[in-house]
Amino acid sequence: MRQTVTIDQAEIDRQLSLCDQVRALLDRRPGQKTAFVDTYGCQQNEADSERLRGYLARMGYAFSDTEEGADLVLLNTCAIREHAEQRVFGNVGALSHTKRRHPEQVICVCGCMARQEHVAKRLKQSFPYVDLVFGPQLLWKFPQLLLQKLTTGKRVFETDDVPGSVAEGIPVVRQNSIKAWVSIMYGCNNFCTYCIVPYVRGRERSRQPEDILAEVKELAQAGYKDITLLGQNVNSYGKDLDLGVDFAWLLEQVNQIPGDFVIRFMTSHPKDASERLFDVMARCQKVAPCLHLPFQSGSSRVLKAMNRRYTREHYLELVDQLRARIPNVVLTSDVIVGFPGETQEEFQETMTLIEQVRFDALFTFIFSPRKGTPAETLPDPMPKEQKSANFQALLQRQNEISGEKHRAYIGQTVRCLVDGVGTDGRLTARTPGGRLIHLEGEEALIGTWQQAKITDSSTWALFGTVV
Ligand code: SAH
Ligand code: SF4
Ligand code: F3S
Repeated sequence: MRQTVTIDQAEIDRQLSLCDQVRALLDRRPGQKTAFVDTYGCQQNEADSERLRGYLARMGYAFSDTEEGADLVLLNTCAIREHAEQRVFGNVGALSHTKRRHPEQVICVCGCMARQEHVAKRLKQSFPYVDLVFGPQLLWKFPQLLLQKLTTGKRVFETDDVPGSVAEGIPVVRQNSIKAWVSIMYGCNNFCTYCIVPYVRGRERSRQPEDILAEVKELAQAGYKDITLLGQNVNSYGKDLDLGVDFAWLLEQVNQIPGDFVIRFMTSHPKDASERLFDVMARCQKVAPCLHLPFQSGSSRVLKAMNRRYTREHYLELVDQLRARIPNVVLTSDVIVGFPGETQEEFQETMTLIEQVRFDALFTFIFSPRKGTPAETLPDPMPKEQKSANFQALLQRQNEISGEKHRAYIGQTVRCLVDGVGTDGRLTARTPGGRLIHLEGEEALIGTWQQAKITDSSTWALFGTVV
């Protein structure tokens, strides 16, 4: 197994001084320089973008919300499904026009796609105006890579498979002043046979507990109200540290930090979820009464082919154990329809599982073959039309279940955190369990906990008024 590389503070300090050199270079041309950071994919990528913005701010960039006219465009990409990749290629293609109108524009592509050989090759050959490409393991080195591009004028491609790193001390510009992401670990060791993440994000590595706790403390003091601990499989936190700590322990520590905030975490892998974790969740006041526990398939045969290392029965047992401790827990999940070789009977097992569990919400995906993963080359006889029909049937049934679960809130008064204003002009709020409420009330309430009377509901959300 490869070693985790710890990037020490002296190295980050060096990167920060390179930020100052970039700033000096940029200052030679008049006017405020702007950067547009476009993020695809999961919360981990959102969290990474906040650190990239931290570096960019240190370089003197202000942030723009469009690529048009920006001096620097940074696409932080996702490779999880083909659709995500196509969107990125479409948007990179469109940048040829903005760059023509603004030839000084520097175009950077980073994130999970950048670590795929075929993608790096395509960017190199077919998108000559892309200036800088680097994988997620080299995020800490962004100032150096950008300075290299700016001083040599040559394109920079740093997409090799380097060992995963943990870097502390990179500045952060957060997107939100109420909710915050905190990565507690990086990478993944699980190699689910359909998944690209272990190949592009490297092996699992945990941050030191004191670094995580210091960050959460800082957020709590700054008034953040909703803190989400992030990792591809948070339940394996600490396994690589030799400190005798685990995720349940970390949750308890975070729970003891003073402040009026709720703690969420994602994602949990069922193979490592335990009664010990559920006990801690039930005991810790600040830990939200919700769990995102992807099941991926209701068929034990398919789960085995996916290398998930649990069975349908074990999954259902976990749900029972959790509900025994937190009866009203909000349960959400991910599922893949049409894994290669999934039969119609096996798909029906997924249908019966959602019937049995009655998730509050479900993220449904059609299998998308990823280059280099074991599932890419498995025989896949089910016609596309059948997969689509199955997908629609699953979605429809889940929507009914979500709708029914939401209807049960009508008439109740629930605690919620007001977090913004929606496109309809109403406030948006979240229950501790994470359900969305469209709320009638004053904008001044944003960032505060309120009691909301639920008056109506839909498949996706609740509607209510502040009481
Ligand atoms: N680490 C998380 C998942 C991250 S990816 C976990 O293990 O739960 C988010 C979701 O994307 C996965 O749960 C899975 O449902 C889906 N997914 C991943 N690879 C996929 C693929 N090749 N095709 C379709 N869906 C996929
Ligand atoms: Fe992918 Fe599986 Fe790792 Fe999740 S646990 S990131 S699905 S390999
Ligand atoms: Fe996508 Fe990478 Fe996240 S592939 S889902 S951005 S870990």
